[in-house]
Amino acid sequence: MASSILQALMLVVALSLCISSTECLTGDSIIEHSQSVDGGLCFNLIEPSGYNCLEHTAQTKDGFLLGLQRVSSGILNLGSQTTPPVLLLHGLFMGGDAWFMDSPNESLGFVLADHGFDVWVGNVRGTKWSHGHESLSDGDKEFWDWSWEEMALYDLETMLSYINSKTGSKVFVVGHSQGTIMSLAAFTQPDIVSMVEAAALLSPISYLDHITSKLVLNLVHMYLDEALGLLGMHQLNLKSDILTNMIESACDGHLDCSDMLASITGENCCFNSSRVDVYLEYEPHPSSVKNLKHLFQMIRKGTFARYDYGSIKNLLQYGKLKPPTFDLSKIPESLPIWMAHGGNDALGDVIDVQHTLKELKSKPKVLFLEDYGHIDFLLSTRGYEDLYDNMINFFRSCGNLNVQ
Ligand SMILES: *[C@@H]1O[C@H](CO)[C@@H](O)[C@H](O)[C@H]1NC(C)=O
Ligand SMILES: *[C@@H]1O[C@H](CO)[C@@H](O)[C@H](O)[C@H]1NC(C)=O
Repeated sequence: MASSILQALMLVVALSLCISSTECLTGDSIIEHSQSVDGGLCFNLIEPSGYNCLEHTAQTKDGFLLGLQRVSSGILNLGSQTTPPVLLLHGLFMGGDAWFMDSPNESLGFVLADHGFDVWVGNVRGTKWSHGHESLSDGDKEFWDWSWEEMALYDLETMLSYINSKTGSKVFVVGHSQGTIMSLAAFTQPDIVSMVEAAALLSPISYLDHITSKLVLNLVHMYLDEALGLLGMHQLNLKSDILTNMIESACDGHLDCSDMLASITGENCCFNSSRVDVYLEYEPHPSSVKNLKHLFQMIRKGTFARYDYGSIKNLLQYGKLKPPTFDLSKIPESLPIWMAHGGNDALGDVIDVQHTLKELKSKPKVLFLEDYGHIDFLLSTRGYEDLYDNMINFFRSCGNLNVQ
């Protein structure tokens, strides 16, 4: 307990140092640029494993240029119309790389391609394999003026229409964590859900008021989100040099850093800690302070609703004192849904998952893995046996698919 509070304090100090130092901010934008010009996700991570990969860019209604990668197995024809498209939606502080960080038979992106799926990799606004904004730069505060609400209503809508127009097919959607928040919110909108064939949700989240993550709860109680806002910070970049140094020096000293991941995500049964260096080459990606505020609102209030600006601004924005909720019962009963959740997941708590299930009209297929924590749903060394096989069988059951 004491050590989590200490970690939280270190984080706040590090973040406040970061924003008061122009050197740190400049450093961040240099990292962004070099990352977007060095060849993209296809070149860096997917093609080296022998897969076909093409970079695409799709523009949202509010001007963000999203990176999408289209991946297929080296032994199958790229762009063949006979295979169903599947869109992968990564979680918070992650990017499309999340689905390709382990060996081809352990990474869902490669596994789906090997089974004949036409794999499309989503990258939400602000992450490093996306391509910024048509007119704003990442140094502008307006560039970071969004939360998962815009990712759901604009980014996901844009990705689905783009894939729909390229393939002429409805799309299978796979989300992890924040990718499931986006999906569940977007599926309440008839024009968006009409483009979806079926959905597989890994660690599904719509309600967050029962999370058990000690570190996150400490940050919520400390109002880290409000503090960052008051300090004039808009971008949330956990990779800033100063923050990294602070965490590293803290680890060399008194904190037990092997517990850091568990104190955020819950105990992961199948996390390969000798691969941390590989993971850290890609993660974490930036997000916005407003997104953190929106997530913390969910934890504090127990709602699945649009962003809360406070009564007066809500009245102007929504014509109501409280933000409108996303009504899960509006998700069509006809949409096939598969969910996998875990008994050790400190962010996707079992009670919150039950709450989501209760509000849905449909009866999703549910896979419960007692010993899985939040990150196991992405990086488990047993992912194929525990999750992917089951998910692919579910997709097969949804239609006449030409997949193996
Ligand atoms: C892939 O999985 C098989 C067993 O399912 C294993 O024998 C093989 O070593 C794995 N390959 C790689 C590259 O990890
Ligand atoms: C864990 O990662 C190491 C380093 O990449 C690898 O050699 C080992 O096979 C992995 N173990 C499992 C169980 O996947």
